[in-house]
Amino acid sequence: MVTPLNTPDNIFTLSDSFLCDVNLDFPGFLRFKSSCMNFSDIGILGGHPSTTHPIAGPWDSPHVVKRNIFPKVLNDIRLHYIDYFDYFMNQKNSLGLNSCFKDLEDPIELFKIWMSEAEKKEINDPNALSLATTSNNIPNVRMVLLKGLSQQGFTFYTNLNSPKSNDIKENPKAAMCFHWKSLQRQVRISGNINQVSDKEADSYFNSRPYESRIGAWASDQSKAMNKRENFLEKIEEFKNKYKDEKKLPRPKHWSGWCLNPSSIEFWLGDQYRIHERLKYNKLSNVWKKEILYP
Ligand SMILES: Cc1cc2nc3c(=O)[nH]c(=O)nc-3n(C[C@H](O)[C@H](O)[C@H](O)COP(=O)(O)O)c2cc1C
Repeated sequence: MVTPLNTPDNIFTLSDSFLCDVNLDFPGFLRFKSSCMNFSDIGILGGHPSTTHPIAGPWDSPHVVKRNIFPKVLNDIRLHYIDYFDYFMNQKNSLGLNSCFKDLEDPIELFKIWMSEAEKKEINDPNALSLATTSNNIPNVRMVLLKGLSQQGFTFYTNLNSPKSNDIKENPKAAMCFHWKSLQRQVRISGNINQVSDKEADSYFNSRPYESRIGAWASDQSKAMNKRENFLEKIEEFKNKYKDEKKLPRPKHWSGWCLNPSSIEFWLGDQYRIHERLKYNKLSNVWKKEILYP
């Protein structure tokens, strides 16, 4: 039991240990602690704080309380900020997933956010994706670069006579996969794929460097070549043909494909393979969300 005396610096009559409730009422904080104190605590504390006054009880001299209580208050503030930091680092969305999954109805909007984060973190080509197509039910996959994104879908550019383009002409369904190692994130997209308009293709083609545009003319993409010199000669021929880079047209065999998504899955890696997954499926033109086992 603690029996406070009214003389300021002779504070306690003591038993060896006692239960003590400390209610620290500090600006911005209200914490309640119940702790078992022993004799050594009393030496440090120097007095039993008031439950109503933040600094001194009626029997304590203020300098004793300030000297002895203040370190405890600082510790309390520190604990408060650790809690606060922990809360921010572990925020969840309404489905119980990491807050990076947000709470959006539109997966394209979520993709834009993830892409902007990847642009800050990836050392190069955050817009690189693997593109899967099929030919006679045989799958084929290769990397391409995402060059357009809208509500219509995900656009990349290529040679229209390449194997990937021939696959798409045969089966206009494809899948894409982005992997951002620095963020431990993956996005998988699948849907129907269509050629972009000539206007859109012209606009992107004209934004490319001169040498890249010449390359689009000179390359029979994925065809076997006898000698590399033949290709380099072709490049020089086209450079001579199109000396003025302002008058370099887009080849008819070069354009873009836009994958209109029917499903988009967002994946976040976690410890011990307890990954988090959010999949959007488009049903009757409305996006529906589901979470998946890892
Ligand atoms: C990071 C990366 C990005 C690429 N981007 C493109 C691209 O945007 N368009 C393209 O036609 N090929 C691109 N390629 C080359 C393709 O992976 C592939 O070699 C080429 O398109 C032929 O594929 P196909 O024979 O399946 O048609 C890229 C390769 C890498 C590694």
